[in-house]
Amino acid sequence: MNRKKKLLAIFGTRPEAIKVAPIVEAARRSEFLECSVAVTGQHREMLDQVNELFGITPDYDLDVFAPGQTLNRLVSRIIDGLDNVFNDCEPDAVIVQGDTTSAVAGAIASFYRGIPVIHAEAGLRSYNLMSPFPEEANRKLASQLAVLHLAPTMFNKHNLIREAIDESTIVVTGNTVIDALFKTLENKIAFSDERLNLLELSGRRIVTITTHRRENHGEKMSGIARAIAQLALMEPDVEFVLPLHLNPAVRDRIIPEIVGFANVTVTDPLNYAEFTKLLNISTAVLTDSGGVQEEAPSLGKPVLVMRSNTERPEGIVAGTVKLVGTRPEDIVREMRAVLNDSDLYTAMASAINPYGDGRAAERSLTAIEKLLGLSHGGEEFDSWKPNADDLRRATNLIEL
Ligand code: UD1
Ligand code: UDP
Repeated sequence: MNRKKKLLAIFGTRPEAIKVAPIVEAARRSEFLECSVAVTGQHREMLDQVNELFGITPDYDLDVFAPGQTLNRLVSRIIDGLDNVFNDCEPDAVIVQGDTTSAVAGAIASFYRGIPVIHAEAGLRSYNLMSPFPEEANRKLASQLAVLHLAPTMFNKHNLIREAIDESTIVVTGNTVIDALFKTLENKIAFSDERLNLLELSGRRIVTITTHRRENHGEKMSGIARAIAQLALMEPDVEFVLPLHLNPAVRDRIIPEIVGFANVTVTDPLNYAEFTKLLNISTAVLTDSGGVQEEAPSLGKPVLVMRSNTERPEGIVAGTVKLVGTRPEDIVREMRAVLNDSDLYTAMASAINPYGDGRAAERSLTAIEKLLGLSHGGEEFDSWKPNADDLRRATNLIEL
């Protein structure tokens, strides 16, 4: 009897762990596949939190986490460490996700060993190499190395075709974050931070805020903090909740500006179950995160994105996401409009879900099995069938 084919998932940060987990779960149920997991440890607590929630115990852990290490050091340690993993695991294919250092280093290391690379969440583009930095470069590099591109949306597929990626190697799957979101929301849990349970009971309006993007570090991050302080003063009936990223470049800029406001609650990063619950009970969301831009529209929550561009214009086309940049006056004005203009709020909150239907992992698995000669392939995710005009419009909405 033929042995099962071996898939190795390589990831290292919180968002990758959330988005790969549904694929790992699906692959582990497959009768044709064995699926091993190698974590780089680019993140530590924030990664372990997610793996624990999804019941994933890594088979390999490069444990490269070190506070403040350079991107070059991170890349070199991951590539070096993966050689031993490949020797032990001998995978038939590797899957990497998204645009982090772990993803690109995983793709390069696999490619140099002649192992086929599968790229999940392929085809997102801002068309600005410096923003988001270094993610735009990371995902373009991964596209050059992959033999199978799992594109969340038709727009992402269109981006890849524009770069002359062979169309027959692209499969539109939806984003697995929606699978993770829907499944996680089935758990009825309480917050472990009692302040959040009290907020939920109070029935007051909540705005959830996250920020971490490297290109927002420094003065821009201080501006974001000042905007939050102004919002807290001007909207005393609204509760602003910030589950803060562990990066000191974020914490040191944000915390000093917002201490002492009764309606601002700062927490450590929440585990995914608690964070999705917080999103679900929020009135609106203010973020520079990629994943949160995909999740909040699926829950019918208006999202203001604190960036000057996005690789996810589908939410803007759908009308649930607005790019507001990072100037404090713009953030304050736009958030106050969402909170106080009920027509605007209703328009933005109409629950449209351009990113997935909860079946992205299933489609990804079928495409992976086809790549490995184990199935004939399946249907694509086609809830959004853009015509040429839609694609042009979406491309125009990438920049503020
Ligand atoms: C990384 C990804 C980014 C992704 C983000 C998700 C890269 C280049 N960036 O950015 O694409 O959006 O993860 O959150 O891959 N830290 C901790 N504990 C943790 C995690 C981070 O203390 O669990 C601190 C450390 O000081 C670390 C710093 O945050 O040095 C930055 O972490 P790093 O992984 O370099 O970048 P992120 O900003 O998290
Ligand atoms: N998230 C979480 N806990 C938090 C904040 C965010 O679990 O306290 C989840 C969020 O739901 C999303 C992912 O982390 O799925 C996004 O991670 P992040 O913003 O760090 O990275 P990005 O998506 O921008 O790469």
